[in-house]
Formats: sequence, structure tokens, C-alpha cells
Amino acid sequence: MFAHQLADGAEFRPLEPWRAAEFAKHADRVRPDIRDYIPWAWTVVDERTAGEYLQSYADKQAKDEAGIYGIWVDGVLQGGTVFRTFDAGTGVCEVGVWLAAEMRGRGLINRAVRHMIDWAFHERGMHRVEWVCDTRNTASAAVAKRLGMTCEGVHRQSFVLGGKRRDSQVWAVLATEWGEAAPEPRG
Ligand SMILES: CC(C)(COP(=O)(O)OP(=O)(O)OC[C@H]1O[C@@H](n2cnc3c(N)ncnc32)[C@H](O)[C@@H]1OP(=O)(O)O)[C@@H](O)C(=O)NCCC(=O)NCCS
Repeated sequence: MFAHQLADGAEFRPLEPWRAAEFAKHADRVRPDIRDYIPWAWTVVDERTAGEYLQSYADKQAKDEAGIYGIWVDGVLQGGTVFRTFDAGTGVCEVGVWLAAEMRGRGLINRAVRHMIDWAFHERGMHRVEWVCDTRNTASAAVAKRLGMTCEGVHRQSFVLGGKRRDSQVWAVLATEWGEAAPEPRG
């Protein structure tokens, strides 16, 4: 399977259903770091539910409608990204991300998402990449901003997490803006 190097020792690859046990272990470890913002942190609780979650992505990927990828640092799964939605017909997709707390602040997510956006725009001819985050999630909004996305507004009380209704902020970058909007960061 393909692997894209993000940094020394850090690799970005597809996260496939056969990795269910590894994903379940990862979910247990990072749950406290991500459960305020990541819905699957509440539902992936063992190898069976991890397998079901990865399989749901594999099924959508087979229809070219989504994708899930992992970030391994020194061989350990530390986070990942998704094309939560991917609609080649309209040219619109949405990216999502998560990372173990101790791996943050190194630009790993920035590099992984750049790779996805480059692929979406340059190889797949997509038109618009979206990023949706809880309005309280300043770390996530900072990622979108560093990528050169524009904040387009807030969808009020648009999703439920942990039994609470949340507002979501919508960010996006258009194919015509990519490159100019997000020059490669140094480092
Ligand atoms: C959102 C999340 C993945 C961001 O992780 P991150 O490590 O801050 O993301 P980035 O890869 O963009 O890294 C940026 C940081 O690395 C630093 N950095 C170092 N080298 C860098 C480089 N080459 N490029 C970009 N940033 C770099 C930046 O200065 C920044 O640090 P700062 O936050 O101290 O300013 C993380 O906070 C997380 O997992 N949160 C919980 C889950 C979540 O909220 N997911 C999003 C749901 S919408």
C-alpha cells in the first residue's frame, strides 16, 4: 500500500479494516485527547466497533465517497485524517483530522492535509475542500487558517456530541485559491 512520508519517522497511509485491533488500541489511548470533538471516540470502544468503523469507510471508499488514513510515528499509530465526504460529481469534499496530544505542534496534520488537498485538486479535479469544526475548537480552526482556508460562517446547533447540541464553524478552500492561499510553511 502507498505510504507518504510526512517527516522523519512519520508516515501517512490508508487505514484499512484489517487494522481494527491496532485502531481499537489507538482509540483507547487517545480517547481523552479527542472525545470533546470526535464522534467516533464515543462509539469505537473495542476491536469489533473499530472494525465496523473502518469497514464503513472502506465501503464508502469503494464508491469513491470517502476515505480514512492513519499517521504512524516510529511505527505507532498516532492520529489520522478522513475525507468525511467526497463527491466527485459536485467537486466538493470535507476533510477531518485527529492526533494524539503528545504529537501536536509539529505540523504533522498540516502536512497530511496538504497532501490530501493537493490530491483532491490536482489529481481528482475537485473544486472545494471543506473543514467543519466545533466553534469552541480553536486548535482545529487554527489548522484550517494555516492551510489558507476561509471561515464562511457558523451552522448553529447543527450536531450532537456527548448528548449536547453544538455549533459548527465552516471553513473552505477553493481550487482557484490553493497554492496562493496556503504557501508551503517552513520547517
Ligand atoms: C486539531 C488537531 C489535529 C491539530 O493538531 P496540530 O498538531 O496543532 O496541527 P498542525 O499539524 O497544523 O500543527 C500546527 C502546530 O505545529 C507547529 N508547526 C511546526 N512545524 C510546522 C509546519 N511545518 N507546518 C505547520 N505547522 C507547524 C505550528 O506552529 C503549530 O503549533 P502551535 O499550535 O503551537 O502554534 C489537534 O488539536 C487534535 O487532534 N485535536 C482533537 C481532535 C480535533 O479537534 N480534531 C478536529 C475536529 S474538527
